Amino acid sequence: MTKLQDRVAVIAGGTGALGGAIALAMLQAGATVVVTYRRPEELDKLTADAGPLAARLSGESVDVTDCDAVAALASTLAKRSGRVDILVNAVGGYAGGKTVWETEPKTYATQMALNLQAGFALTHAFLPAMVQQNRGWVVNVASRAALVASPGAGVYAASKAGALALFRALAEEVKPYSIQVNSIVPSIFDTPANRAAMPTADFASWPKPEQIAKVVLFLCSEEGSIVHGAEVPVYGRT
Ligand SMILES: NC(=O)c1ccc[n+]([C@@H]2O[C@H](COP(=O)([O-])OP(=O)(O)OC[C@H]3O[C@@H](n4cnc5c(N)ncnc54)[C@H](OP(=O)(O)O)[C@@H]3O)[C@@H](O)[C@H]2O)c1
Repeated sequence: MTKLQDRVAVIAGGTGALGGAIALAMLQAGATVVVTYRRPEELDKLTADAGPLAARLSGESVDVTDCDAVAALASTLAKRSGRVDILVNAVGGYAGGKTVWETEPKTYATQMALNLQAGFALTHAFLPAMVQQNRGWVVNVASRAALVASPGAGVYAASKAGALALFRALAEEVKPYSIQVNSIVPSIFDTPANRAAMPTADFASWPKPEQIAKVVLFLCSEEGSIVHGAEVPVYGRT
């Protein structure tokens, strides 16, 4: 079993469908976990789901697309915890259904902020201390849409492809340090939102957030220490 007893993990978007599963998996592995959240009821649900493990869970209300707010979070956590070992970017969201030419500029801006700028803000805030401590694990959540042509999802795809490129570059940049950087690449997975949006789909074929969380855990474990700069597909058979 993966052991992360000595680790402090920040899960951005850690109260979301996948982020919450990752947070629970990290708690079960012994890590101290800080999640960012926006809606207090999501943090309340995660805290309830964590049960006694919630003693090692805390939440910070932060807009992860805001570089100053994320820098303030990093500074707060450095004072409180002394260090951050694991950084997971599970913030993201999809807006689509329109051709590129029909997409509103406002949608373009919000998609870029959510799916690309958030990764930059987190990297900018947390990597300097990881470099200084010469220790860290970073996992970015991308999307298969970044890799294949996605009619009606061009802007989402572009924002996720940009994030993949950012973390690919970061992985090269940290090669001199003991910092591991990887992306996971999901296709559709089983969330309440997806079930509501596609009520006639075959839910059984969709990967579960808990299964994907295990891959993230592996990438942050000693067993996964050889995997660096990877973009790991977690599509199942979708
Ligand atoms: N679901 C899928 O089928 C699928 C497929 C491929 C890739 N992905 C990617 O996987 C990741 C997780 O997806 P998910 O389905 O778990 O999404 P989700 O349930 O919506 O979780 C995303 C989390 O990020 C939070 N968030 C949104 N904007 C934020 C902001 N500006 N600052 C801070 N937090 C913010 C959300 O908070 P609120 O709930 O308050 O908005 C939510 O807790 C995303 O990057 C998504 O693009 C998902």
